[in-house]
Amino acid sequence: MRIKTGIEGFDELIEGGLLQDRQYLVSGSPGSGKTTFGVQFLASGALAGEAGAYIILSESADTIIEDMSRYNLLIGELVSKKKLFFLDLGPAIQYGSYEELSSVITPDYEQSQAESPEEAPPTPFSVFMYIEAAVKQHNIKRLVIDSLSAIRFASMYPAQEEKSIGRFIRNLKTLGCTTILLSELINPEAYTIEQFASHGVIFLHNFLDDQKHTMVRAVQIIKMRGTKHDCEMRGIEFTKKGLVVLKPLK
Ligand SMILES: Nc1ncnc2c1ncn2[C@@H]1O[C@H](COP(=O)(O)OP(=O)(O)OP(=O)(O)O)[C@@H](O)[C@H]1O
Ligand SMILES: [Mg+2]
Repeated sequence: MRIKTGIEGFDELIEGGLLQDRQYLVSGSPGSGKTTFGVQFLASGALAGEAGAYIILSESADTIIEDMSRYNLLIGELVSKKKLFFLDLGPAIQYGSYEELSSVITPDYEQSQAESPEEAPPTPFSVFMYIEAAVKQHNIKRLVIDSLSAIRFASMYPAQEEKSIGRFIRNLKTLGCTTILLSELINPEAYTIEQFASHGVIFLHNFLDDQKHTMVRAVQIIKMRGTKHDCEMRGIEFTKKGLVVLKPLK
């Protein structure tokens, strides 16, 4: 079954939508539209009766709700009907607490010397446990995690870090949700572990056009397992409805 993102012009690029219960990565530069993309995906499901949760690890929930409420996405109504949840993990998670070992996390609790346990970002284990509880409690079917970059996968050993990210993404599959993981796009040329581990990868670009001296916004589908998808870099526009996908850039 295909899950519609609800983003105008996008679903037709991926055979009608995302595949159910899979994990997708939406990676983009600052201000490229990651939050907007994720919230539109959740609002579209919520309108059709599927509860969705936006898991916040990077900013405050109030700021995101305030900004996203400026679009005609019925955010306030969906939140009050308990079809859309903005869950702020900042206060909920004991940052840096030393959890029990589980299948979710590698046995690795090193922190950089500059970090005290209170300041260290949450571990994949604590984030997963929180999400699992929320999914069960609210019967969540769509998830957005903002962002993967804010979780502490770091390890002294690169192979261990790779395992930890892969394991986190595989564990999300057990939740029975279609999930969008947001992440910072540092270098579009370099492939990252989370890109390999996800079922699909979407880039949101926001770059300077040297000739026109303006920022150009675009979306591009990098991979989409099991799907015949578009590969062009397509313009995007922020409208009252949120993001709208336009024609390929020249
Ligand atoms: N109401 C609005 N109407 C049109 N465009 C808007 C509106 N609100 C925000 N924008 C545009 O959207 C951009 C931010 O989008 P969004 O928050 O989805 O990006 P992001 O990739 O999540 O950013 P960050 O990297 O900061 O998390 C703003 O920089 C602005 O250009
Ligand atoms: Mg954002």
